[in-house]
Amino acid sequence: MDIRPRRLRENNLIRRISRETRLSPDSLVLPFFVREGSGIIEDISSMVGQKRYSPDTIARGVEEALEAGVRSFMIFGITENKDEFGSSGFHSHGVVQEAIRTLKKQFSQDIQLISDVCLCEYTSHGHCGIIKDQKIDNDSSLEYIAKTALSHAIAGCDMVAPSDMMDGRVTSIRNLLDQNGFENIPIMSYAAKYSSSFYGPFREAVGSAPQFGDRQTYQMDYHNKKEAIKEVLLDVSEGADIVMVKPALSYLDVICEVSKNVNIPVAAYSVSGEYALIKAAASQNLVDEYKMMCETAVSIYRAGANILVSYYAKELAQAMRRGDIG
Ligand code: PBG
Repeated sequence: MDIRPRRLRENNLIRRISRETRLSPDSLVLPFFVREGSGIIEDISSMVGQKRYSPDTIARGVEEALEAGVRSFMIFGITENKDEFGSSGFHSHGVVQEAIRTLKKQFSQDIQLISDVCLCEYTSHGHCGIIKDQKIDNDSSLEYIAKTALSHAIAGCDMVAPSDMMDGRVTSIRNLLDQNGFENIPIMSYAAKYSSSFYGPFREAVGSAPQFGDRQTYQMDYHNKKEAIKEVLLDVSEGADIVMVKPALSYLDVICEVSKNVNIPVAAYSVSGEYALIKAAASQNLVDEYKMMCETAVSIYRAGANILVSYYAKELAQAMRRGDIG
């Protein structure tokens, strides 16, 4: 037999030299949840192993991540101060702004802070935009979303990541950042974000479930793939520097298609429900958690993602360092 595929599977070293997908901890992003108060480090019951911090304790979480080899973080805010416009989201002393200032003061350029820009964590109705006549009004939302992004940039974040799915928000954010001297702050847009049941544990963790209706008028319908390309190309034309597909596991085909259609980095967000499913199955000894974490993460990169946002970022970085993956 001339061709024997098994030759390249004979031992660990030959398997490792033949790998098609190469990974680095540099491509990992770990999400952090920060809430109002002080001295807080509390477990998130819907996402076993994840924690909520207050601005004065979050540095401890970052130190642990740095030890594991992760240097990029996404910051989500949790507040009890909610109103119709999500004002606490763009307040100069909001939780996210405080956390950014504290972390940047301590870690400076050793870490990269990417701030999630959205209104849902800060609005009384829990929607990602402003309500007018019982509807989520696109154009009036843009001003507030852009203000939120600007307040993060002023606090010192390295990148902003709008996750609201309003039309035209990349343009609005880009313009406001530029007008204020932040022309070098990149935008990672959640360009193809689907309306998904996989966000359940996250909404529980931050208390951002919509008080009426759902997010189907702004997040995408999961039957669609071409529409993801439409969304992604629009964001690219508006100046997005990195585009994201979210969730990841049920959308590997979308990640693949998007990566073929853009000439900028593609990020994938392996969301709370993907994490919680593995945790739940592992807690019942139905699966091997470590192996399943490795296999699912590699599948997301294999599909075409260049950057992975994952609640397993620390464990994945260690798996990469050990050579179990990558
Ligand atoms: C805010 C936002 C959500 C997530 C990230 N940013 C929730 C949502 O859209 O309801 C989900 C993240 C996760 O599930 O891990 N708009």
